[in-house]
Amino acid sequence: MYRDRIGLKSLWGKVVGAEEAALLIKDGMTVGMSGFTRSGDAKVVPMALAERASEAPMKITLLTGASLGSDIDKTLAEAKLLSRRIPFQADPVLRKAINAGEVMFVDQHLSETVEMLRSRQLPPVDVAVIEAVAITDEGGIIPTSSIGNSATFAMLAEKIIVEINIHQSLDLVGLHDVYIPTRRPHREAIPLTNPQDRIGLPYIPVDPSRIAAIVVTEKMDSFATITPPDEETNAIASHLVDFFRHEVKLGRLSTSLQPLQAGIGSIANAVLHGFIDSPFHDLKMYSEVLQDSTFELFDADKLKFASGSALSLSEPCARNFFSNVKKYKDRLVLRPQEISNHPEVIRRLGLIGINTALEADIYGNVNSTHVNGTMMMNGIGGSGDFARNCYLSVFVTKSVAKGGKISSIVPMVTHVDHCEHDVDLIVTEQGLADLRGLAPRERAKVVVENCVHPAYKDMMRDYVAEATARGGHTPHCLEKVFSWHLAAQQHGDMRKVGQVVKKAAAE
Ligand code: COA
Repeated sequence: MYRDRIGLKSLWGKVVGAEEAALLIKDGMTVGMSGFTRSGDAKVVPMALAERASEAPMKITLLTGASLGSDIDKTLAEAKLLSRRIPFQADPVLRKAINAGEVMFVDQHLSETVEMLRSRQLPPVDVAVIEAVAITDEGGIIPTSSIGNSATFAMLAEKIIVEINIHQSLDLVGLHDVYIPTRRPHREAIPLTNPQDRIGLPYIPVDPSRIAAIVVTEKMDSFATITPPDEETNAIASHLVDFFRHEVKLGRLSTSLQPLQAGIGSIANAVLHGFIDSPFHDLKMYSEVLQDSTFELFDADKLKFASGSALSLSEPCARNFFSNVKKYKDRLVLRPQEISNHPEVIRRLGLIGINTALEADIYGNVNSTHVNGTMMMNGIGGSGDFARNCYLSVFVTKSVAKGGKISSIVPMVTHVDHCEHDVDLIVTEQGLADLRGLAPRERAKVVVENCVHPAYKDMMRDYVAEATARGGHTPHCLEKVFSWHLAAQQHGDMRKVGQVVKKAAAE
């Protein structure tokens, strides 16, 4: 049956078991695997490799599109197989190994990894392992529920292992649009002027002689665990909808807004869900991940078209989509992540980017990655690609975390992923700070008054007043900028900042 999925008959003899295919990967190699936010990941070869590594220790550098599903990152980390991991992850076990310094994690803008590979600024890919729906008559690889970096991995790798997943629907054929930018410094403009433009091929073109092994699998993608909208995320969505309504009134946006991008995670998904009850219509998305909210907006007849690099769906949403691919297919396209996240295209289309902050500061700097400036959460992902280049860069976050013990708005962020120059709006359930055209002192005022939780507002007002009295373009009390974080570290609660400050004064 799997032979129906391998159009080029000369490749039939390359079908082997996962263990045999995994033998192509040797100690010290750089491996590029398909997979982006739990979808389209190579599933059985990495597991076979982990099994081998647990008996005969070995290390690889692993590049992917983004995070993986099916516990692959967890299993590879447990097998101590990873020496270096690029460019994104979201697994608790791997996160622990990264924070312990056991795995060197290179946290990268997701549009950049393959540019760096092509220009040999990263080690060359020895083996690419790519999940596919099918192989064409010419040997082209048709990806599954994500593209991510698969196209460039396959084009550059010395050897390719294809995992043909017979569980993945053949209806996915035709969903993909594989366009790879030409070489710099004389690169042509990417000919994409509308989210629905198709500019490439529906498969990854490769020289079939480099396909060294084909493994047949039927393991499903794992499902996204998405927390449903709650009171706070509904409030965040409602502030944003009011803001956009006002922009429409001022004639700066139309009622179909501009193409939307929404970042990974529960908050951005819930915020987009909030657009179902908005006055906006004929919306388009030009995003990196397409989560449940994309399909909810389709079903509510709000969304006309969605372009992404990967589907990242909860179980009910995935079951609905995969049983009805044809219903959605003409309104969807999946692209390589360097195109979904390309600065040139993002700027050209004038996107509205909605991403999530772990914490933001009073001047608009955003930390999306490091708890207390030191412990890696997931990575910057595509948020920087979008934030820097969007028409409007929105960061959302609940105003407090950990039951109120942490304020997500702080005097100074402990790690900067998005600097104040890349952030236009900060939105919490408390309100929205529109930072466009504001100087730092003005920014601090709107952030404090509109976004900070009431439990922290007086503390923050005191901080800003003291800093402002000392002067400066971006006023700060340097001895206190991280006192809130120290209170969280030492006392588990930022509200105990007084104890940290007193201790410092006593010393
Ligand atoms: N300090 C410490 N922990 C914090 C925190 C803070 N200021 N703010 C949030 N957290 C914790 C939450 O408590 C939660 O912890 P838990 O998993 O133990 O419950 C965790 O961070 C996730 O936060 P949550 O509120 O559930 O939001 P989310 O699922 O939307 O994820 C990010 C938020 C920032 C982690 C996530 O969006 C991310 O990884 N972003 C970076 C990548 C990105 O933006 N990509 C976008 C392009 S696709």
